[in-house]
Amino acid sequence: MRRGLFIAFEGPEGGGKSTQLMRLATRLRTDGYVPIVTREPGGTPAADRIRDVILDPELRIEPLTEFLLYSASRAQHVREVIAPALADGRIVLTDRFTGASVAYQGYGRGLDVEFVRSLNARAADGLEPDRTLLFDLDPTVGLARVNARGTPDRLEAADLDFHERVRAGFLAQAAEHDSWLRFDAGDGPGALEEAVWSAVAPLLPPPADVGP
Ligand code: TMP
Repeated sequence: MRRGLFIAFEGPEGGGKSTQLMRLATRLRTDGYVPIVTREPGGTPAADRIRDVILDPELRIEPLTEFLLYSASRAQHVREVIAPALADGRIVLTDRFTGASVAYQGYGRGLDVEFVRSLNARAADGLEPDRTLLFDLDPTVGLARVNARGTPDRLEAADLDFHERVRAGFLAQAAEHDSWLRFDAGDGPGALEEAVWSAVAPLLPPPADVGP
């Protein structure tokens, strides 16, 4: 039986979602919660190995292969980490989830979106986030931020058209699902943190109910 709260952070490269995830986690801890902080691809030892393959800029990987690798990572992550934590009543914050596959492998790489959704559901065992927080940003801005950080990974190195399609894929999902919330990643980190907190605070159970 699932009892916890499941929140996914999504968005194009360089939108600051990982920073916002860490800020929310810190705020939750201050309020007495003990959130599980995780990410995709990865989140378990086996899935982290899959991540290394997926993001390696030296490798040539077909779009279908890429999607199957993300799905393999997700299948492991859900069963080993996310589902047990939610069953325990924990708050789980994940840096990316199924929405990324729809945006990147569906809209970006051009795989059939219905196929992506259907394998997503299978890999995630039907699990969907209670809220998906989308940090939306123009890819020219996001990619400039990412490139300033160092060598881009295999996905970051894809061309601008690809990243424009990914952004459109995220916006389409946000328009389609009430559980998605769009934030303007161009806002400063402090303003974003407040906006995220306003969205999440009403969903929180009393700290005593989400142990340990
Ligand atoms: P990160 O930059 O958030 O660490 O994510 C790693 C990369 O993997 C990022 O470029 C987005 C991409 N990605 C997909 O293409 N499909 C997916 O299903 C997931 C989870 C991530």
